[in-house]
Amino acid sequence: MSIQVVRPALNFQGSVALPGDKSISHRYAMLAGLAEGTTRLSNFSTGADPHSSLDCMAALGAAVVRKEDGTIEVTGTAGEFVQPAGALDCGNSGSTMRMLAGLIAPHPHTFTMIGDHSLTLRPMERIRKPLEKMGVRMDLVDGHAPITIHGGPLKAIDFDTPIPSAQVKTAVLFAGLQAEGTTSLSESVRTRDHSEHALRAFGATLLRTGERLSIPGGQKLKAIDATVPGDLSSAAFFLCAALLFPESNLILDSIGMNPTRASLLDVITALGGRIKVLNVEEQHGELIGTIQVNTTPGGFNGTTISGALSAQLIDELPVLAAIAPYTRDGITIRDAKELRIKESDRIALVAQNLRAMGAELTEHEDGLTIPGGQQLHGAQIDSGSDHRITMAFAIAALRATGETEIHGAEAAGISFPEFFTLLDTLSQR
Ligand code: S3P
Repeated sequence: MSIQVVRPALNFQGSVALPGDKSISHRYAMLAGLAEGTTRLSNFSTGADPHSSLDCMAALGAAVVRKEDGTIEVTGTAGEFVQPAGALDCGNSGSTMRMLAGLIAPHPHTFTMIGDHSLTLRPMERIRKPLEKMGVRMDLVDGHAPITIHGGPLKAIDFDTPIPSAQVKTAVLFAGLQAEGTTSLSESVRTRDHSEHALRAFGATLLRTGERLSIPGGQKLKAIDATVPGDLSSAAFFLCAALLFPESNLILDSIGMNPTRASLLDVITALGGRIKVLNVEEQHGELIGTIQVNTTPGGFNGTTISGALSAQLIDELPVLAAIAPYTRDGITIRDAKELRIKESDRIALVAQNLRAMGAELTEHEDGLTIPGGQQLHGAQIDSGSDHRITMAFAIAALRATGETEIHGAEAAGISFPEFFTLLDTLSQR
């Protein structure tokens, strides 16, 4: 386990471009593996998770080439995955395991999916339910990985997603794409819609009527050329860092601004950030723009995040919680019990690490109430091998007194290997 020392900063300033969005990279990797032809992807995520998806595609018969300039070429299987020689290793990636389950289920093979310790603790029943309705036989161990999928022809279903999860939605859409008949689904909360855009980019037909999505089965995909937008969830760490310093000025180039992800920008504004969005363009249905943020004089307010907003901001909640003590009025997070079953129990770990830094707070089953106006001190941070906990506390450390040591800091590489280098570039000491 590596220890990363983070020293306080005096200001946060500069201009950077970030590696490609993790969610979009997974989807492009998987659909490229199923499609006919060679897909070329620039600015693909450098995180370990989307590379787990690429490795699974290679095991399923796609040819994956990682070029020196970072471009990824995937020559797909034209709709015919092969029987993999061994288990499909999803590493730390819940996205890989859940979305891939739907993609491979219609293929007439037996697949085993495995993951690391954290992934093996995460709930998989949520994908078994709809996939079994479609006719898949799926074996879990007490609701968890390892998963065995006995694939074969699927029939379309009508499905209402009981929990807000883009991964579950995607598993159903990917299976529905290859099923017999038209699959339809509706969501209780509208989650990120990258799968819908990616499916259309690869040539699939997908319809939305009001809140209902439907996808006709038996469709074939065609390879694309695409640039993955910069990752807004990675940008969140730096946007929050900028809020901590009254003289900050941060420019992030070519960031994904998909409206189903962009409520983060509203929260940053509510907290006192002044955001300018420049040069917005659209690629394969995804919006990409340059974001400039600085702080409004006198403002570093608090806010409450609850209801649908908690589901839409689920990946950004740890860093918002980590900066909460420095706000004027504090931050309350509710309706976020999904945080307890991410790569770690993120509610418990945020509470433990904030307390280690001297903060007072209240932990709820579904969130946290963190009063503002608190000065934190440097401490020993337990990352729990969770990338977002690692990075969230590196940001909290920038305004603490004294040095902070983050244990297990290598976890940042799951989504953002460049994080500590860029943090150093942007922090003025
Ligand atoms: C993701 C969806 C979210 C999110 C995860 C990525 C995706 O998970 O937390 O980091 O790419 O679809 P859930 O679908 O479990 O909410």
